[in-house]
Amino acid sequence: MYKRIFQVLLVSIYCIDLTAQSFTPIGTVDPSKYVPRQKEIAFSNIGMVTTQHFLATEIGEDIIKSGGNAYDASVAIGFALAVVLPRAGNIGGGGFMVMHDADLNANFAIDYRERAPIESSKDMYLDTDGAVIPNRSTLGYLSSGVPGTVAGLWSVHQRFGSMEWEELLAPAIKLAKEGFEVTPYMQDMLVKYHRKLSKFPETKKIFQSNYPVFNKTLFIQKDLAETLEIISKKGRDGFYRGKVASKIAKDMKSNGGIISKKDLRNYEPVWREPLIANYRGSEIITMPPPSSGGVHIIQMLNILENYELSSMKHNSKEYINILGEVMKYAYSDRSKYLGDPDYFDVPITMLTNKGYANNIFSKIEVGKATPSSEINPGMYIDKESFETTHFSVVDSDGNVVSSTYTLNSSFGSGVVIKGTGILMNNEMDDFSVSPGVPNQFGLLGAKANEIVPGKRPLSSMTPTIAFKDNEFFFTTGSPGGARIISAVLQSILNMIDFNMDVAEANNAIRIHHQWQPDRLEIEFGIDGDSSKWLTEAGYTLKIIKPATNLQLIMKKNGTYSGYGDFRRPDSFALGVTND
Ligand code: DON
Repeated sequence: MYKRIFQVLLVSIYCIDLTAQSFTPIGTVDPSKYVPRQKEIAFSNIGMVTTQHFLATEIGEDIIKSGGNAYDASVAIGFALAVVLPRAGNIGGGGFMVMHDADLNANFAIDYRERAPIESSKDMYLDTDGAVIPNRSTLGYLSSGVPGTVAGLWSVHQRFGSMEWEELLAPAIKLAKEGFEVTPYMQDMLVKYHRKLSKFPETKKIFQSNYPVFNKTLFIQKDLAETLEIISKKGRDGFYRGKVASKIAKDMKSNGGIISKKDLRNYEPVWREPLIANYRGSEIITMPPPSSGGVHIIQMLNILENYELSSMKHNSKEYINILGEVMKYAYSDRSKYLGDPDYFDVPITMLTNKGYANNIFSKIEVGKATPSSEINPGMYIDKESFETTHFSVVDSDGNVVSSTYTLNSSFGSGVVIKGTGILMNNEMDDFSVSPGVPNQFGLLGAKANEIVPGKRPLSSMTPTIAFKDNEFFFTTGSPGGARIISAVLQSILNMIDFNMDVAEANNAIRIHHQWQPDRLEIEFGIDGDSSKWLTEAGYTLKIIKPATNLQLIMKKNGTYSGYGDFRRPDSFALGVTND
């Protein structure tokens, strides 16, 4: 493992950053600074849990060991991450979950994405001249959507849970009340985001009282513990009605925010039909809109099925070239066609159609980069006929849960609601605030993703499960904004086409192209020969620090293996044991 990271870093020394653009990846980390918690692949015949924080992983493992199922463990993990991973884990945000139920032999998906408040409007982030007001959709009270996490976890528990709700919140409450040790990585994040976390007094009191030295101190969140206790006693109503809801609405009103009691009362998660596709004999089960992830994973796999990828060298220049081209077409379509399906007719069938993929395939020339300016959304449609964290759990019955949830940016809007410990999301920035103006991830959008009260902003989160021969094969998912879709795609290719184990699939260098800006991002770097070849083919190359973090679980020959991504060093997979 260390050897691998070392190789990766060594290769990066030979790379040159050739881009002229200055779009900075969000939340990047230099993993070489930390000792990753995951030192080797975790194995188990009983079950597996993987999350971005080892304490949450241990809680999930403990739930399964004590007789809970994957859904129970996921609920406990969801609440635990809100305490130990405050930059992304949350109760003030939202997300998506894809599930396979072993008893029913059926797949499910729940959308617990945030919704635009009733008082929101299409132009709410624009000034009177129609120009975007800097930071308004990303920082402070006005940047939050109505949170969905508590309602989502409640709904999953109501439908599939086997343990008492209170038992599942107890570990998170304990961690919030008694505190936990800040890791070196968390220490660095709390320092890195000092300005953001100091802007609002309530947030500063909780997150910056020990600035600049948090390391080895116990991090206690008293107000959050009380809020979690209320949710534990009252269920979802503990968040969406009563004391907590009143505090959210009151604090919003006093500070120019618009989330009201009615917004909270009205919030409902949506059970949606998961998208299912076949890729080289594996069944890919993934998230439908309002996440764009599933649609574009399927679209890109359909195009890639035309190539014999397994006969190519992994991450060779030709392979990177093909992936780069395929990603451009998919992200271009995302900008026009993807949005909340309850408000916009998303052409899912057209985008995931093999014929459409074949048309795109026939236009791709290896050795050549088609400039993004020559690629438009939907170009080759047949005339006849769009800071986050991921966790995965599998249990001994064969239930599988894959969930990605978020506050959007690291520490979301920067706002903690007075007296509650709830850190709020800045998910309104995932809407297209103005046509042609990219969001913080550089993503463009259109009508499909404009702000409408009640609507959900378009997402890239892509929780995914794969089956082969009717047996669970793997589960994958990642944070990383726009880069989530390309990271999940590459994990699928690594495990299906290149037969990699979970560590190899995780450690391999990832590339990313999102059509606009027109540049090919490569993590860490590539060798000089490939760099030259790709530049001559027409790419603008940009070497980046990692911005994604895959959590992978695989099953092979009856044994589960799991691996937490070294890119965020507290990540950890743990096999369920009997003792
Ligand atoms: O839903 C989305 O696509 C974004 N809000 C995700 C943000 C994210 O992944 C940030 N994490 N690094």
